[in-house]
Amino acid sequence: MTTVNGNFLKFPGVYLFQEIAHQVAAFKKTAPEKRVISLGIGDVTQPLAPAVIRALHSAVDEMGNAATFRGYGPEQGYAFLREAIAKNDYQDRGIKVDASEIFVSDGAKSDVGSIQELCSNDAVIAVTDPVYPVYVDSNVIAGRAGDYVNGKWSNIVYIHWQNQNGFVSEFPKVRPDVIYLCYPNNPTGTVLTRDALKAWVDYARREGSVILYDSAYEAYITEPGVPHSIYEIEGAREVAIEVLLRGGAGGTEDLGRQGRSGCSEAPLEPQKRYEVQRLPLYRAARCRSGVFRRRQAGNPPDDRDLSEQRRGDA
Ligand SMILES: Cc1ncc(COP(=O)(O)O)c(C=O)c1O
Repeated sequence: MTTVNGNFLKFPGVYLFQEIAHQVAAFKKTAPEKRVISLGIGDVTQPLAPAVIRALHSAVDEMGNAATFRGYGPEQGYAFLREAIAKNDYQDRGIKVDASEIFVSDGAKSDVGSIQELCSNDAVIAVTDPVYPVYVDSNVIAGRAGDYVNGKWSNIVYIHWQNQNGFVSEFPKVRPDVIYLCYPNNPTGTVLTRDALKAWVDYARREGSVILYDSAYEAYITEPGVPHSIYEIEGAREVAIEVLLRGGAGGTEDLGRQGRSGCSEAPLEPQKRYEVQRLPLYRAARCRSGVFRRRQAGNPPDDRDLSEQRRGDA
């Protein structure tokens, strides 16, 4: 008999944001006169920026012309894009990150969700509480979270916020293998000062832990003294993988997930200790293909039957 992955059955209910939407809708029905500020999924409010529209149009033209058409791209992303990210997000800010250390994916959520596949099954996971759900849910599915008891997962290490000191989190009492940090934080909106982030980097170096640093909202930082990247901190290259969202800030949010891109930087020195620099590439090469729709020689020459063309997709 074929059985499902039993870890899915451990989830207490539907996905958090679906539940929020459901409860907000129900409340609005019972109290239509109330103005509700929804703290669920933040949707976009503005149309695409002109630069994004121009780039998309020219990319479509490129794919529609035999002379400029591209097939599957390199697993880690096109060199021109990785070089632009390395230059604009890192090198121009004086941060040492090379294009060869960058992996471009189909979204930041895909990256933060799937990156746990690189860890052993018994890795101990730590998250701040409250937390963006995918860090926990992906580890539940992988079987690392234990059981859901009284609103907490038994094998997850929860890092508690200290409200009285400006939401700076305490170090975990149990040593974690992987620490998920997200700054600016979803959902609290807090940021870490350079010193506070350095304390986390020092902790991870001391304990031999890896930090998965989600800086999806980095573009919203305006305050001086707040790091935009964990790699601004000395020693972070030894212990941190950073995940960026490149789409929201640039105005491609409303293209939906397929149109956005995420990217991870995985310098992690010394390379031999973790070998993690090569692991995302192994994964990308084995589990991802690059072209969302390709036309094989022999497929229909127009759009009459897209299903025929899709059969050619790998
Ligand atoms: C902290 C954080 N990381 C990642 C994501 C998802 O990024 P993407 O839409 O590129 O998958 C979100 C929400 O959109 C988020 O709040």
